[in-house]
Amino acid sequence: GKGEHRHFMAKEIFEQPQVIGDTLNAMYNPAQGSITLPDLPFDLAAVPKVTIVACGTSYYAGLVAKYWIERLARVPVEIDVASEFRYRRPVLADGGLALFISQSGETADTLAALRHCKAEGQHTVAIVNSPESSMARESDAVLQTLAGPEIGVASTKAFTTQLTVLACFSIALARAKGAIDRKAEQALSGALAEVPGRAAEVLAHDERIRDIAQFVADARDVLYLGRGTSYAIALEGALKLKEISYIHAEGYAAGEMKHGPIALIDETVPVIVIAPDDEDELFEKTASNVQETVARGGKVVFFSDAHGVERMSETALYAIPMPTVNPFVAPILYAIPVQLLAYHTAVLKGTDVDQPRNLAKSVTVE
Ligand code: M6R
Repeated sequence: GKGEHRHFMAKEIFEQPQVIGDTLNAMYNPAQGSITLPDLPFDLAAVPKVTIVACGTSYYAGLVAKYWIERLARVPVEIDVASEFRYRRPVLADGGLALFISQSGETADTLAALRHCKAEGQHTVAIVNSPESSMARESDAVLQTLAGPEIGVASTKAFTTQLTVLACFSIALARAKGAIDRKAEQALSGALAEVPGRAAEVLAHDERIRDIAQFVADARDVLYLGRGTSYAIALEGALKLKEISYIHAEGYAAGEMKHGPIALIDETVPVIVIAPDDEDELFEKTASNVQETVARGGKVVFFSDAHGVERMSETALYAIPMPTVNPFVAPILYAIPVQLLAYHTAVLKGTDVDQPRNLAKSVTVE
C-alpha cells in the first residue's frame, strides 16, 4: 500500500534513503572503503569503450554515468536513446561493453538494442530493477538496483538507485583501469556511503518545496538548467514535471541559454537551476548564466549548497540549501528536490499523479 502517503510516487520518493542504502550495501565494503561488483564474464581492464543505451529517465541516469566514467576511468562513453541507437547502425568497438539501463527490463527498444549489441559481439551488462526481466535473462551480466517495486509511472527511486549502481560501476572501472588509486576509491565510495543520510536531509525540505510548487503550478512553461552531471538532472527534472503536471518544461545545459532559450525568458517563466558547488568552476559559470536570466525578468529557483545559496540569495526568488557533499554524489541528491517539485505541482494541478494520462509504466511496444 501507500502507507501514510497519498500517492505511490510520494511513498517512493521518501523510500530513497533506504533503497539507495540497500543498493549500495550490495557493492560497498565499509571496512576497506572499496567497491566490489558481482563477477563479470569479461575483463573490465580490457574494455576499450562503453556504450550506454536506455530510454526516458533511465537514459538520464546513463547521461550522468557518461560524465562519471569519462572523468574517473578515462574510458570513452557513447550514449544514445534506444529508439535512435537501434536504427542508426552505430559503430561499436571490438571488445566493447554495452550497458543497458532499465527499471522494468522490458522496454522494447532497449531490449532490441541489447539483442543487437549481443549479436555484434559486445559484452552486455543490464542494470535492471526486475531480476526476472528479459534484459536480465539475455545480458551477459546483471547489476541490480534494489529499489523494490516501483508503482508510480514517474520513475523516482529507480532513478537514484540506477545512479547508485552506475557510481559503483564507474569506481570499479576506474580502479580496473588503474585510473584511480586506493585513496581516491576510499574517498569516492565513502562519499557514496553518506548519500542515504544526506538524502534524508534533503527530504526534510519537502514543505519548502511544496511552497515553491504554488509558484510553478501557475506557469505555462518552465526551464531547468544545469552544467555537467547537473545538466542531466535538469533534463530529468523537466521530464518529471511534464509527465505528471502536464506543464511544458525543458532542460538545458546552462551554457546553451544564450544560444536560443533565453529568448523565452520573462516574468512568467520559472527557471529551476541545479548548481551544486564543484571543483571545476561550473558553479561560477552557472551563477553567471543565472544573473543573465534574472536580468531579463526570469524568476529563479536555485538549488545549491549553503555557500552557493548564500551567493545567490539576493538574485534568486527561492534558494534552497542542499547538503554539502563530494560533487561526485551530487546528482543522486539533487534528483530528489526536482522529484518533489514535480510531485507537489502535479498535486496542486489535480492530475492523476501515479497514472498520468497517455503513459504506461512499461513501454513494451516500440
Ligand atoms: O523501464 P525502463 O527504465 O526501461 O523505462 C524507461 C522509460 O520508459 C521511463 O524511465 C519513463 O521515461 C518514466 N515514465 C520516466 O518517469
